[in-house]
Amino acid sequence: MYTALILFILAGSIVCLGGIYHRRSVALGLLVPGAILLIIIAFLATAVLPYITLFPATDKGVPYPEKALLGRQIYVREGCWYCHTQQVRPLRVDAGLGTVSQAGDYQYDYPHVLGTERTGPDLTHVSGKYEDEWHRNHLINPRPRTPEEEGMAGKVPGSIMPPFSYLSKEEIDNLVAYLQSLR
Ligand code: HEC
Repeated sequence: MYTALILFILAGSIVCLGGIYHRRSVALGLLVPGAILLIIIAFLATAVLPYITLFPATDKGVPYPEKALLGRQIYVREGCWYCHTQQVRPLRVDAGLGTVSQAGDYQYDYPHVLGTERTGPDLTHVSGKYEDEWHRNHLINPRPRTPEEEGMAGKVPGSIMPPFSYLSKEEIDNLVAYLQSLR
């Protein structure tokens, strides 16, 4: 497609230049090639350059399983990323959060959910940290509400994370699948 576009631009310029040469107009002779050159430079800078400098996908940058992808949409919709980041920087404050993130990790992340604030913990490598059951209990309501819930998996006394009890069972399941895919 790009080749066709470039050929089209080149053919257009040759026709224009031919016409200009024929009429011997100096002003047009500078304006038209200048404009064409500008289009070519803009095209190289905005389309070709980003394309050839794309980072290769890493082991983490793989397509999400379908359930996890649905869960990801809920993660975006519910604004989990207001409070949770998904980026491990090569900084001392991020030490202990696991492997430092690379551009290729985010190959299939659209829209990205890097986050900006850590009201809650970073979730880059949360997969496998807890059982599915823990996540389900935690998402429905992170805080224990009855004496029986004290000490239950997924109940964190004093947590300031909001409850997501209004989500359907299927939505919670998809969300858990997404969290468990964050390796
Ligand atoms: C208002 C901020 C806020 C929002 C919004 C929020 N969380 Fe949290 N989250 C927290 C806080 C604070 C903690 C730490 C206390 C706890 O574990 O409950 C936490 C903990 C977690 C943990 C456990 C992380 C670990 O390493 O222990 C997971 C998983 C999690 N949140 C997922 C989510 C998901 C999924 C959503 C969206 C449906 C969400 N959070 C929305 C604040 C938030």
